[in-house]
Formats: sequence, structure tokens, C-alpha cells
Amino acid sequence: MLTLIFVVAAYLLGSVSFAVVTSRIFGIADPRTYGSGNPGATNVLRSGKKAAAALTLLGDAAKGWVAVAAAQHYAPDDLQLVAFVFMAVFLGHVFPIFLRFKGGKGVATALGVLLALNGWLGLAALVTWLVIAVVFRLSSLAALMAAATAPVYAYEMNLPQEWVFACFVMSMLLIWRHKSNIQNLLAGKESRIGKKA
Ligand code: G3P
Repeated sequence: MLTLIFVVAAYLLGSVSFAVVTSRIFGIADPRTYGSGNPGATNVLRSGKKAAAALTLLGDAAKGWVAVAAAQHYAPDDLQLVAFVFMAVFLGHVFPIFLRFKGGKGVATALGVLLALNGWLGLAALVTWLVIAVVFRLSSLAALMAAATAPVYAYEMNLPQEWVFACFVMSMLLIWRHKSNIQNLLAGKESRIGKKA
């Protein structure tokens, strides 16, 4: 019963799109109507409102962090519960009930989840993202590299196998959500970070 309550709560929390909420607060267009159409921080940045993009990043990361940290706090020995909550909050962001199941690509939420799961794991993913983002100025490429390496980091850090598996599934889903970005990257048409829509 505890697992079900946590999983449903995590899914509902994940379903709150901070890109959409923040855009309404700032009075800017819904991010699903411009740029890549993705309700995420990178696309909100294309509106030109840096504060709105920063708040989107913070909010989407915080919901991932809060869900996993809460599960770890209330059931520290239940590795499976933590793994289910981990997936539920991420799936909520990607397939949100409040947006007719058309959500974001999951990068910020994944970062929050990883930071809560293990600080070093989150830091390793963040540094990977930052290095690629600074060098290439391509948010999607940075996310793809961080996603591809996160399960490897988790495995190398000897984290519980339930968590390594959840990390792998999340990464696969995140990469799949970036299929249009991958096509643009291969065609040399992907827009750089900060370029306005
Ligand atoms: O955070 C999502 C990012 O990796 C790609 O976003 O808007 O360029 O598709 P976008």
C-alpha cells in the first residue's frame, strides 16, 4: 500500500510541468507553441526570459529530487520502492496526466532524481552535461551524453542493482524522447543554447 501511495504521488508530482506553470506566471507563450515545442527549460530559454528558464530547470529538477528523497526518508531500506518512485516521477514528467500525456524530455527531472539517489551520481551526470554544453553549446547533445553515461556511473559506483536498472531504463527513455534532436544533430540543424525561437 505504501508503495502504491508513493508511486501515485510521485507520478502526479512529476506531471506538474514547470515549463508550462512558469510560462503562465511570467506571462509568456506556452513553450509547446514555439521552438522545439518541448515543455522544458531549454525551450523556455528560447523565449528570451532567462529567469523563466532557470525557474523551469529548478522546478523540474526539484520535483525529481523531492520524490526520491521522500521515498528514501520514509523507507530507507526499501530499494525497490525508491526505484519505483524514481521511475514514477520521471514518467510523470514525460507522460503527464495534466497535459494529456504529452510532456517533456525529462532532463531536469532526471538530474533531480539522480542527485537525490546519490549525490556523486548526480554530480557526475551534471558535470558531464555541463562539459558538453559549454564546449558545444548544444543542450540536447549534453543531455544525450549525460543519459548514456549515467547508468555506467551508477554501475561503477556499486549502487544497488534496482537503482542501476531504473537508471538504465530512464536513460533509454530520455534518449528515445530526443529522437528529433538526434535527427537535427545528424543533419547539423540543431539549435544552439540560448538562440531565440
Ligand atoms: O532539456 C531538453 C533538451 O535536451 C532539448 O530540448 O527544446 O532543444 O528539444 P529542445
